[in-house]
Amino acid sequence: MTFKLPWSKRHKKVTGGLPYNFSNSYTEPLTSKELLDMAAARGDQNLVDEYLDHTLEYTPNGGSLDLREEIAKLYGPEIGPDNILVFSGAQVIISTLAFALLDENSHSIVFTPGYQSVQEAPFFARSQVTKIQLKYENDWRIDLDEVEAAIQENTKYIVVNQPTNPAGTLMSAEEQARLVEMAQRNDIHILSDEVYRLLEHTPDVQIPAMADIYSKGISIVTLSKPWGGCGVTIGWAALQDLDLRDKMTDIQYFGTACPSRASELLAIMTLRSSDEILKRNIEIINYNMSLLDEFFDEYSEYFEWVRPVAGAVSFVKFKGPMDTDELGLALAKEGISIKPAYVFSDTVTEDVDFFRLGYGESNMAEALEKLKEFIERHKGEWD
Ligand SMILES: Cc1ncc(COP(=O)(O)O)c(C=O)c1O
Repeated sequence: MTFKLPWSKRHKKVTGGLPYNFSNSYTEPLTSKELLDMAAARGDQNLVDEYLDHTLEYTPNGGSLDLREEIAKLYGPEIGPDNILVFSGAQVIISTLAFALLDENSHSIVFTPGYQSVQEAPFFARSQVTKIQLKYENDWRIDLDEVEAAIQENTKYIVVNQPTNPAGTLMSAEEQARLVEMAQRNDIHILSDEVYRLLEHTPDVQIPAMADIYSKGISIVTLSKPWGGCGVTIGWAALQDLDLRDKMTDIQYFGTACPSRASELLAIMTLRSSDEILKRNIEIINYNMSLLDEFFDEYSEYFEWVRPVAGAVSFVKFKGPMDTDELGLALAKEGISIKPAYVFSDTVTEDVDFFRLGYGESNMAEALEKLKEFIERHKGEWD
């Protein structure tokens, strides 16, 4: 098996974990007490009591029915509780799916720059892989003609991440429909990493969940991003293809087949308070976006981006005389953390030398002030 090292390993050592943080990719986390209080205020005292009193037994493989029922409410009529498989977060689902669908005779199509797992998991499963380069000048959009041209007789799998990490861009519903039509015609499964879905900055840009619209589509979701629940470690796959679900269950058996009941109950509480939590998080995001709009206006000489429309991250070009690795190191010395381009690409060329800037948490304003101070002190050297 050809596991590569995590691309974020160097980042965690040299530019991560600092007080002024643009590196996170999630929204403002709640405390467990806040979540329990929200449940009680909603009249869900039974759930709170169960959380305090439940026995520490195993839960059923693939998630308890009550959680899967709650999750299924996020989807249309094709997706019921049996079409949901619960995992400990989304990361593990990406590799589980690759192992369930691929072997050395298969071919997959992935996109870069992007989250490492979504572009690399097919390699772990020994699949042949075509990596398609997303381009800044094309607003990081997927070029569907390029996808069509990359499809081979043995293509089994296309992996998309929409809204995107790291750019926060999102394909249109028309583009998504064309991708599905192409996959259907060629009998290809689509993994749609939708961990940033439901965090659209305005409702008009939202596109359907892949699991709702395609019989061979798999939507993956995690509490970590829209609901700021990384510590709950609950994610899920939603899919119509029950044979694939069974294969995934068999693979899951050898990993973490059952989530903790405490996590399941926190996940149910989160989903029942979803409207309230998402509203709060989108407000934080849109406030931060207004600060970032001012920042990009003021410092357009030094920074540019494709303005994101969804999610909690963006991909930013530094136009000064340092690459993003060097910029990350310079900022780290001042306690400011960004994610350089090497976290998102196998090979960093000028075309993809952007850094990721997260804006999902309310302490972003403070980090932005620090960044401005840094720029004011150094911009003379950059002209
Ligand atoms: C695009 C994408 N997919 C999947 C994941 C994994 O989610 P989790 O940390 O909940 O396993 C992440 C986390 O950063 C992500 O950004």
